[in-house]
Amino acid sequence: MTKQDIQFDQAGKLRHFLTIEGLPRQTIIDILDNAENFCTVGARTVKKVPLLRGYTIVNLFFEPSTRTRTTFELAAKRLSADVLNININTSSTSKGESLLDMLRNLEAMHCDMFVVRHNQSGAAHFIAEHVAPHISVINAGDGSHAHPTQGMLDVFTIRKHKPDFTQLRVAIVGDIKHSRVARSEIHALNILGVPEIRAVGPHTLIPREAASLGVHVFHDMREGIKDVDVIMMLRLQRERMQGAMLPSEAEYFMQYGLTREKLALAKPDAIVMHPGPINRGVEIESVVADGPQSVILEQVTNGIAVRMAIMSMVLGRKQEA
Ligand code: CP
Repeated sequence: MTKQDIQFDQAGKLRHFLTIEGLPRQTIIDILDNAENFCTVGARTVKKVPLLRGYTIVNLFFEPSTRTRTTFELAAKRLSADVLNININTSSTSKGESLLDMLRNLEAMHCDMFVVRHNQSGAAHFIAEHVAPHISVINAGDGSHAHPTQGMLDVFTIRKHKPDFTQLRVAIVGDIKHSRVARSEIHALNILGVPEIRAVGPHTLIPREAASLGVHVFHDMREGIKDVDVIMMLRLQRERMQGAMLPSEAEYFMQYGLTREKLALAKPDAIVMHPGPINRGVEIESVVADGPQSVILEQVTNGIAVRMAIMSMVLGRKQEA
């Protein structure tokens, strides 16, 4: 079974959302266009539409999260779904219950969707292979493999500022080796036709397969961000690093931190992005993170609309059946 076979049902509708890799371009465009319609919901006094009334969505976060977990919860509530947030630390997995047994019990409660974050690459895919036919699985980040809803909200944010993907030069800077966000974003940008994607970082933090992902590798940040339209900064994922992969944080900041002086090398209207959490003074200077070219908080806001779009497409499929 290919990665795409599992994501679509027999009628060709999106059942799970596990990875952007290999998705048809039209599916990505449909998600972006649907998200556009949901943007206005958050600006209303009553921030709700009835699309998923009666559905039950379960957040299963085995790894810490601020943005993804809360925006998934807000997105589900704005679609009028019921939401359960399972506290993994106080669940019966701490008494030895296996992951699959926990899922069987949630299935028995007639839940409809599991939103899964896990530190193991492939975890969401594994769960999708084992759930009952009435359940859909959304990958909220698995190890260093994929973070597809983040990739989608990033390209949604880019499209708001730079509508023609075929004219863009995008630099992704920092710890690309451990970044599931970078992988998802590279797949999305490639599918949308971005002609130049740059991966910028030290040798130790650029994966060997970078060239096969269709990116140009730069180890000098000043060269890497020269004349780009979009700069996506990444956090150093120390929790996934084994051994010494870096000099000191001060040295890293000097070489790869985004400062006002380095930002001046990009196009004058370049946007600055970061999926968060940001580490000020490590990968980005505060004056840039909070500056006029930063769209970092827009990314967070857009995450709600994009997650509403994906959840409504995946569960709306059941209403059409
Ligand atoms: N961007 C992102 O995944 O942030 P969280 O870890 O806070 O969810």
